[in-house]
Amino acid sequence: MRNRIIEQTSTGVRVFAPAKINLFLAITGKRDDGYHQLTSLMAKLALGDILEVRRTGKESGIQLACPGYPELENHQNLVFRAASKWLEATGESWGVELSLKKQIPSMAGLGGGSSDAVSTLVGLNELGDSQLSQTDLVQCSAEIGSDCPSFLMDGLCVAEGRGELVRSLASSVYQSVVGQKVLLFRPNIGFSTAEVYQNLAKHKKYSTDDWAKERINLWEHGELSTIELLHNDLEYPVFSKHLYYRVLFQQIEKQFGLVPKMSGSGSTCFVLIPEGSDQIALLKELIFNSFGDDCWVKDTEIIL
Ligand code: C5P
Repeated sequence: MRNRIIEQTSTGVRVFAPAKINLFLAITGKRDDGYHQLTSLMAKLALGDILEVRRTGKESGIQLACPGYPELENHQNLVFRAASKWLEATGESWGVELSLKKQIPSMAGLGGGSSDAVSTLVGLNELGDSQLSQTDLVQCSAEIGSDCPSFLMDGLCVAEGRGELVRSLASSVYQSVVGQKVLLFRPNIGFSTAEVYQNLAKHKKYSTDDWAKERINLWEHGELSTIELLHNDLEYPVFSKHLYYRVLFQQIEKQFGLVPKMSGSGSTCFVLIPEGSDQIALLKELIFNSFGDDCWVKDTEIIL
């Protein structure tokens, strides 16, 4: 995680907060606590936000600036929750100034808010007189959001439970995916994660736990390619309501022979771009024609 730190000054620190995509997301049932049980393979992207964390010199208070996104400058922002949790957990008391440069769209299934929160914890751990241990960071981040602990891991990771039980993979396994070019695309709409899960619960279209674990196991042992592994159970509730996704996906498959997937609870989708592909401009044209001129399209790649 230390490699998320971009720069350190006497008063502050700049931290990178990468986006993620779910290469595999199987939802295997609803739990008694209201959350859903899942198995997921998550990859970090070169696309990310940049967070500056500074000590203000005051005795207390958390301030947040988010240039260009005033709607995110409020106490609901997960960076706020992360900063107050870190201060509470360490017992330290000093003023914190947070400045967040957003690149990751919100309500997009790319984990932007969760990644920002984890970068806040990492930044404060760097600036604080005391530090939270890795175990405490995992616990603290899990209380902020189910997918937060995955952002404490470098490389690809497998998440289980409600998303908070994470394990890293052998570097020999994930190295083959690092550097993979990814095209992200998203219609000009955001989805609430809670609502998408609620709609899945209505349809009860779950995978079995055994199947999900077996798929990951086969992939880890090189018996399944990353393209063959791609899966997302949350596509069903989203695509049943937003029919235009299926139309575009079928066209991408037919015209380009590629496998598009939605990331997390959407609304962002992605395609893994084959090495040396000369079809990207045509693919983007198809996406804009289908999702409209106001859709968001971004080239990025999987990082360590
Ligand atoms: O954990 P987080 O706050 O990110 O989750 C947002 C919402 O998504 C939860 O309140 C829950 O409704 C839903 N969720 C779920 N199962 C998960 C993760 C999230 O039902 N594993």
